[in-house]
Amino acid sequence: MSVLYRLVGPVLRGLDPETAHNLTLRALELGLAGKASNRSRVSLQVSVAGLTFPNPVGLAAGFDKDARVPGRMLALGFGFVEVGSLTPKAQSGNPLPRIFRLAEDEAVINRLGFNNGGMDAAAARLEQRNRSYGLVGVNIGKNKTSPDAIEDYQLVFEKLAPFADYVVVNVSSPNTPGLRDLQAVESLRPLLTRLFEVRSNLSGEISRLPIFLKLAPDLAIDDAIAAADLAAACGMDGLVISNTTIDRPEFLRSSNKLEAGGLSGRPLFDKSTELLRQVYRAQGSRLPIVGVGGIASAQDAYTKIRAGASLVQLYSALIYQGPGLVSSIVDGLEKLVADDGFANVAEAIGIDA
Ligand SMILES: Cc1cc2nc3c(=O)[nH]c(=O)nc-3n(C[C@H](O)[C@H](O)[C@H](O)COP(=O)(O)O)c2cc1C
Repeated sequence: MSVLYRLVGPVLRGLDPETAHNLTLRALELGLAGKASNRSRVSLQVSVAGLTFPNPVGLAAGFDKDARVPGRMLALGFGFVEVGSLTPKAQSGNPLPRIFRLAEDEAVINRLGFNNGGMDAAAARLEQRNRSYGLVGVNIGKNKTSPDAIEDYQLVFEKLAPFADYVVVNVSSPNTPGLRDLQAVESLRPLLTRLFEVRSNLSGEISRLPIFLKLAPDLAIDDAIAAADLAAACGMDGLVISNTTIDRPEFLRSSNKLEAGGLSGRPLFDKSTELLRQVYRAQGSRLPIVGVGGIASAQDAYTKIRAGASLVQLYSALIYQGPGLVSSIVDGLEKLVADDGFANVAEAIGIDA
């Protein structure tokens, strides 16, 4: 796999980012990306929200918006994969170009605007998937022109819950007008309440399907803590911290730094980790947190875990380092945990908070 990527990686990075991404998805669908070892790593196995993860390193939402390749991504060594964001109806998103590499900063800016093929097409694919390949979360959003956000989340939840191991309510993408306003407690309460009503009316195991809330790194700490408190009070199972930022730190060097959209990758690491740490500090182990933002190495993943993350996810670093990064992070994390004398990674959660 890494030999192939060493040849293909520079070619992909010479293409427009969205073309490169589409080709990557196609290559994955054709089975060209290979497989990592599936050796079990007892020290990395964690239980969160009633699910057992073979390792805590997941693929963040946005890479596989339409659930085309979750099995292939699990085969690369991820402990779990999140697909989406998915909306009720298919929508094309914002005009191109809308993904920009900031190579000097190991970052990305995107203003895709929830381009996706809609929930029905995703449901058909997810229904076909072999669940023994691993855990797949479904990230849900709303259509741009929908007049009723709550209705949209309900529709996607009802459609996709049967095929998901967990669901993430995404109210934090910066590229859908008004979406982030749903993070305010007065808007969030009716949304979460509705989803919990819907969930509790489902029959069987999925009436306990874990639901996570994904927050923006640009929230003031107090607002993030208020959202976390509400999530806990409503019976949510966890938080995902964080989505991309609309901030443009002074230290960015790339010429693309002023493009509109959400910034991800290395420059997001400190900001998202700090928010994670503060929320963990305020609410302890009441709600597990998935730590996302700027992870590009095993040490980065471990830093998030020590700051309070029970699980971590990444996306942008894959663009720069390719698929071999997944195994290198998982192997490196196993070593870091052992070097600190822990029998299991869960012992490290929050010890630096
Ligand atoms: C091109 C791109 C598209 C994304 N699309 C979504 C999305 O549809 N839904 C979502 O919740 N997050 C989306 N994200 C955000 C990622 O899931 C993640 O929260 C963010 O990129 C920070 O992680 P990273 O620094 O490892 O990339 C997207 C990120 C990128 C780079």
